[in-house]
Amino acid sequence: MSLRYLTAGETHGPQLTAIIEGLPSHLQLDFEALNFELARRQKGYGRGRRMQIEKDTAKIVGGVRHGYTTGAPVALVVENNDWKHWQKIMNIEPIEGTDEEKRRVHRPRPGHADLNGGLKYNHKDLRNVLERSSARETAIRVAVGAVAKQLLERFGIRIAGHVIRIGEIEAPPHNLPLDELARVTEASSVRVADPETEKKMEAYIDKIKQEGDSIGGIVECIVEGVPVGLGSHVQYDRKLDGRIAQAVMSINAFKGVEIGIGFEAGKLPGSKVHDEILYSEERGYYRATNRLGGFEGGMTNGMPIVVRGVMKPIPTLYKPLQSVDIDTREAFAAQVERSDACAVPAASVVLEHVVAWEVAKAFLEKFGGDSIEEIERNYRGYLAQLEEY
Ligand SMILES: Cc1cc2nc3c(=O)[nH]c(=O)nc-3n(C[C@H](O)[C@H](O)[C@H](O)COP(=O)(O)O)c2cc1C
Repeated sequence: MSLRYLTAGETHGPQLTAIIEGLPSHLQLDFEALNFELARRQKGYGRGRRMQIEKDTAKIVGGVRHGYTTGAPVALVVENNDWKHWQKIMNIEPIEGTDEEKRRVHRPRPGHADLNGGLKYNHKDLRNVLERSSARETAIRVAVGAVAKQLLERFGIRIAGHVIRIGEIEAPPHNLPLDELARVTEASSVRVADPETEKKMEAYIDKIKQEGDSIGGIVECIVEGVPVGLGSHVQYDRKLDGRIAQAVMSINAFKGVEIGIGFEAGKLPGSKVHDEILYSEERGYYRATNRLGGFEGGMTNGMPIVVRGVMKPIPTLYKPLQSVDIDTREAFAAQVERSDACAVPAASVVLEHVVAWEVAKAFLEKFGGDSIEEIERNYRGYLAQLEEY
């Protein structure tokens, strides 16, 4: 059975829920590490009040006993602490009350799912769309990805994410080892390695906020310790770079994805794009450079996986954008109660976790077994085969 998960839940509902199926037995889970990842998603300069209201924690309600997975589906819950204020509005059973009491939404926000979802599902209350389309759902995706991350760590595969750009401010290149990058960016309010850039980004976000605007950016994720041969060239839906691209594009507000040098590859001659193959006793086969970001033919090549994603500016602006009321079909300028000005640092945490999931899934497809011990045997056997090759 391949690894899979589904999520359910609304942004102002009682909780977000996920069921993961296909995890092996005997994976030891570190609950503190899981909650640490959720806290990481909530941090970041430019985020609004909700992040202070919500202190997310994941509760495991199935599939784990005495700290270890049993092989049964793992059920995860992240409660919405704000639920107490929304119980009536989000009531499961019918309620009496005016549109106002039900907080009916009839003014679709540009850049959101509101209007498309309303038309598609024939909802005259756009709350039925926005409650689910909200990026709040990324909290439970981070919880799911955090489990995947722990599985990968068990096999020496590590991940770090960071911010490359916020609006006009770009972080300079760095040569930090992965662990150091993770440590340094964790201490940064905008998840960049360079303190000068951090200051510039903070000032830039302040300026954007003052103007009633919002700003996006570019985030990057690096995966190290990946063996050769995850994914496959033989079928379109087994190409792991393609699957990672889909996962990245599925993050709210992401409008583009690159692997390695990505779009730069369209500007450069082949000699400056392809990575030459080398061999040494110590490393086996490896590449002289890693411009292709760890992939050739939809398979990992043993070099670090490098994935970038671009996030558009948050669509809810204090500076009102024009839209049309679905009751009156008249134009109005969208009013905003509260919104983040920039969620790029948080998005880099989400990126790490959706990528971790895809890599873990491909890892289990290749070395799959019902228990960690079985996977370990399969993995060791493969590594021995590579050595003999
Ligand atoms: C971590 C994160 C936080 C976000 N926070 C907000 C927000 O506070 N306000 C907002 O309007 N959009 C926010 N978004 C973006 C919207 O959820 C997203 O633009 C919307 O659901 C429409 O989907 P699309 O942009 O993928 O088409 C956030 C996205 C992410 C990844």
